[in-house]
Amino acid sequence: MSRARCWRGAGGAFLGLLLCGVGILVAALLLRTFTLPSNRVIWQGPAVAEVVFTSEERQLLKRALVGAVRIPTVSVSEEEQNYTALAEFGEYIRKVFPRVFSSSIIKHEVVAEFSHLFTVQGADQSLKPYMILAHLDVVPAPPEGWDVPPFSGEERDGYIYGRGTLDDKSCVIGVLQALELMLKRGYKPKRSFYIGLGHDEEVSGHNGAMKIVERLQSRGVKLLFVLDEGLAVLDGVIQGVKRPVALIGTTEKGSITLNLTVNQPPGHSSMPPEETSIGILSAAVSRLERNPLPNMFGVGPEASMFEQLAGEVRIMITLWYLKRVSLMSLLEKNTLAWRWALGHKNVVLFLL
Ligand SMILES: *[C@@H]1O[C@H](CO)[C@@H](O)[C@H](O)[C@H]1NC(C)=O
Ligand SMILES: *[C@@H]1O[C@H](CO)[C@@H](O)[C@H](O)[C@H]1NC(C)=O
Repeated sequence: MSRARCWRGAGGAFLGLLLCGVGILVAALLLRTFTLPSNRVIWQGPAVAEVVFTSEERQLLKRALVGAVRIPTVSVSEEEQNYTALAEFGEYIRKVFPRVFSSSIIKHEVVAEFSHLFTVQGADQSLKPYMILAHLDVVPAPPEGWDVPPFSGEERDGYIYGRGTLDDKSCVIGVLQALELMLKRGYKPKRSFYIGLGHDEEVSGHNGAMKIVERLQSRGVKLLFVLDEGLAVLDGVIQGVKRPVALIGTTEKGSITLNLTVNQPPGHSSMPPEETSIGILSAAVSRLERNPLPNMFGVGPEASMFEQLAGEVRIMITLWYLKRVSLMSLLEKNTLAWRWALGHKNVVLFLL
């Protein structure tokens, strides 16, 4: 056999293998697509409590949120927050939720001047308490780019607009309003619980959440679980899903700040050392970049989320099943942002 024919033979075999591979992939995709149960319901727990609001209560709820949005509790940085607005917010919730603040089963404490801790006493002291969290502050909102002024709480086409409607005054008001209305209906919980409302979540939580934690820790409080601000009902955000999707956040991606410092004797540009401090740092940074944390996408509760969504958008989900990667795994890439600060002796690098 000549060398040319031999190469042609190898090429043909390769093409055959490739086609075979593609065929298997397509077959698996179709199989997965048509055997995946549609609209699987995983949650089979007890029925949700019946919630009936009078129209007057509905108006109260709406007005409570609008009023909260109008107080500009803006956090710019840990050093710059609108303390006037935070104080005003404290007065506001006292006025709007009178039962919460006068109930004999609720103890209210102000923590670190602007944060709030409520202890709701349950009838059965042997049950471990749980805790509900929300935060009062919002990120700045310059009026440019907004259809309505960001602190107006204006209602348009059935929606209330404004900074904080989603993050996180809807939670603050939702939790307090629910408690207020339940108290009105004679609610007495069996299990105790706490409500923690922090005032500096957007800029660290060092003063609010952490001081609340310290207080609970000093009392030896152990919690059954904590429920914090979750995700939103997204409409048109998950590709291919036509209906709104209520996402339940079960975890949040964390971040780490590293301070890398290299100490090198100072030199002169006429006699550069073989290895400069910037070179050493660059190598360290590069090594960090090459060693990201492991990608655990697809092994947590997000798997059941995709299963739930599978009935809505089969192709994307089945693709994900096949390869355990999805369009969303793009989001998983670890993002490194760099800030360099160059000194005389030290080169300090921040990993944000
Ligand atoms: C801070 O909040 C108050 C209302 O409590 C408001 O009148 C004032 O304009 C706000 N300050 C800034 C800088 O936004
Ligand atoms: C980083 O570490 C150096 C050396 O220990 C220290 O001098 C510097 O203040 C630190 N920078 C920050 C922002 O913590």
